[in-house]
Amino acid sequence: MNVLFCVFSGTGNTRKVAARFAEELRALGHTTSSYEIKKGAPMPELEGFDLLIFGYPVHAFNAPEIVTKFLKKFPKGSLPFYLLRSEGEPSKLNDAAGLAPKRILQKKGYSLAGEFTVVMPYNILFRHSDKMAVRMWQAAEKRIEHGARLVDALGGETKKVNLIRRAAAFCLRIEHPAMPVLGKTFHVNAKQCVGCGKCAAGCPTGNIRMEEGRPKFGGHCVGCMGCAFWCPADAVRISLLNPWRVNGPYPAEGDPASDEEICRYLRKMYTNYFHESEKL
Ligand SMILES: Cc1cc2nc3c(=O)[nH]c(=O)nc-3n(C[C@H](O)[C@H](O)[C@H](O)COP(=O)(O)O)c2cc1C
Repeated sequence: MNVLFCVFSGTGNTRKVAARFAEELRALGHTTSSYEIKKGAPMPELEGFDLLIFGYPVHAFNAPEIVTKFLKKFPKGSLPFYLLRSEGEPSKLNDAAGLAPKRILQKKGYSLAGEFTVVMPYNILFRHSDKMAVRMWQAAEKRIEHGARLVDALGGETKKVNLIRRAAAFCLRIEHPAMPVLGKTFHVNAKQCVGCGKCAAGCPTGNIRMEEGRPKFGGHCVGCMGCAFWCPADAVRISLLNPWRVNGPYPAEGDPASDEEICRYLRKMYTNYFHESEKL
């Protein structure tokens, strides 16, 4: 099969997961191409593809608005598609993040073949330990290998979302109108900012422009956290969300967390997720 990955990634987790997934599919004899979802980018050309995989992170139990807006503009078609999500915690509440993309794509004629979810370290809320990040990546690799085998056979499962989880996700969709407003009040600590422009260059909506060597934040923020996460000087302040800011990449290699070293927050959920992944 010729597979097109359409990926949105704020801080690199989903991009990394999708790239590893593509690598696995190529090892199984398929060809892959990758398209990055960014504001203003031309739509991908779909001719010659047999399968679509849409990759994106979970934002407040939902698909990021940049993704749903992209899908609304996506051309009609009849190809099978998969959803591939990265999320910070292995919670069923996150499954609601598939609802809008599925609805939009199915309405356009595409047929859902399955959904995959992979836990990756938080880019907001709190910083997972390096050991947790390593164990997450090891679990992710297992899930990706398993997922690629399913895609190879056009198999897979879809997530059922009960009413309570739908309602929770619906309430948190407030994030979509809130982020552009909140994002306008993002700023940098002038003493720390080195004026490198990485935040502006990496912003998926072009919301940050450099003025006299300092970033200025506009009204099109989608809350991806790329600016705060990748700032080499940890100078970006994310307004009301600042207490939950996470800065700097996680390692993928090194000692993984043992069961005893799994974070206390949602410990049972992470432990079950790791054990299930390791059995795949
Ligand atoms: C605004 C925002 C909201 C988030 N909400 C959730 C959430 O509801 N559930 C969850 O498990 N992770 C949540 N996360 C964490 C990300 O989904 C996770 O770290 C993901 O791997 C980031 O992928 P990326 O690097 O491709 O952007 C959120 C992250 C951001 C920035």
